[in-house]
Amino acid sequence: MDPKIAQKFPYPVDVESGKTYFWCSCGMSNNQPFCDGSHKGTPFTPIKFETDEDKKVFFCGCKHASNKPFCDGSHREL
Ligand code: FES
Repeated sequence: MDPKIAQKFPYPVDVESGKTYFWCSCGMSNNQPFCDGSHKGTPFTPIKFETDEDKKVFFCGCKHASNKPFCDGSHREL
């Protein structure tokens, strides 16, 4: 089962030090790029992301990155 392609480009997010994020891996969340529980009943589970610095992260929107939860350019092959 392939994940749903939420969009074919990354989501830039300003993440905050000390926060925990759950990246949507199924592509069905209405709160992209993060999990809203929509994966229930599918083989997908969210990927946890934690950071100790404030920075901008480019989260994968196509859900096909090899380097999940980060965009690695795989969306160009879709
Ligand atoms: S959005 Fe770039 S690899 Fe998925």
